[in-house]
Amino acid sequence: MKYLGIDLGGINVAAAVVEEDGTILGRGRVATPRSGAEAVAAAMSEAVRQAVENTGCTMADIASVGIGAPGVIDPREGVVEYWSNLDFHHVPLVSMLEQRLGKSVCIENDANAAALGEYAAGAGKGSTSMIAITLGTGVGGGAVLDGKLYTGFNYAGLEVGHFVVEYNGRLCTCGRRGCFETYASATALIKRTKELMLINRESLIWQVVDGEIDRVEGRTPFEAAARGDLLAKELVEEYQSYLACGITSLINIFQPEVFCVGGGVAGAGETLLGPVRAIVDREDYARDSARRTILTLAQLGNDAGIIGAALLPLFR
Ligand code: BGC
Repeated sequence: MKYLGIDLGGINVAAAVVEEDGTILGRGRVATPRSGAEAVAAAMSEAVRQAVENTGCTMADIASVGIGAPGVIDPREGVVEYWSNLDFHHVPLVSMLEQRLGKSVCIENDANAAALGEYAAGAGKGSTSMIAITLGTGVGGGAVLDGKLYTGFNYAGLEVGHFVVEYNGRLCTCGRRGCFETYASATALIKRTKELMLINRESLIWQVVDGEIDRVEGRTPFEAAARGDLLAKELVEEYQSYLACGITSLINIFQPEVFCVGGGVAGAGETLLGPVRAIVDREDYARDSARRTILTLAQLGNDAGIIGAALLPLFR
């Protein structure tokens, strides 16, 4: 059986044909339009077309389509209730896509999908409780507690990107100040890198991007830090300290058996997570307990969301 997963991100729409065990057979990718929901639905169906074509199959081979989408998602109604990054309000994404694809479509919050993917086939496999966060355009979170996805009564739970790590801090797209994602998302890291580059013309970061500031990505400061650039090291440390602050608070609330970190920035691997783990180890309130949360990288990497989305019907 083949399943189709779509990961709707702030930058790209990615689609993949996935087997029941989580193996990806073919992929498609289209830039996310910022011109409204119809354009986004069209981009999604184009990414699906590419994934099917690259797999060498047809839509008739696909059992179902699952979407992982950011924001507050009502999976029963198939609606994106609210997504601050693209200013979506009550968008019936499931019916829009069903009309285009002629297939049954289901939807879940993107980070919930990533958490399910990691729980089924990655870092959370066999655990009793797991929290997963994703560091991308925003910061997402999902919790699988005693084998069940915890969503809150209205599906808006675990919006970890929007809990505050700095009172009155940076302005978030949601309107609050100091939200975790204004410090720990890829977007935040890129923005901060650019800010500091502009006042430090001699930094090695400029060399990493060949003098073109628009080429800064989440991995850029990590690359410059690895080459010994002091500014980049400070940037990475600042980023890690906010990340550790948010993770420690989440661990203090949930004390999950496994806490896994995925999304684009997690591509930096242990270079990112090692120092974060050291801070969390020191600050976790359960530091004296014999049993401690395992803080680890998402095993499915950036594919956790797309795999979880594809396999959504199997979790229902
Ligand atoms: C949204 C979440 C989403 C996360 C990752 C946040 O800005 O509020 O719903 O899971 O970004 O895409």
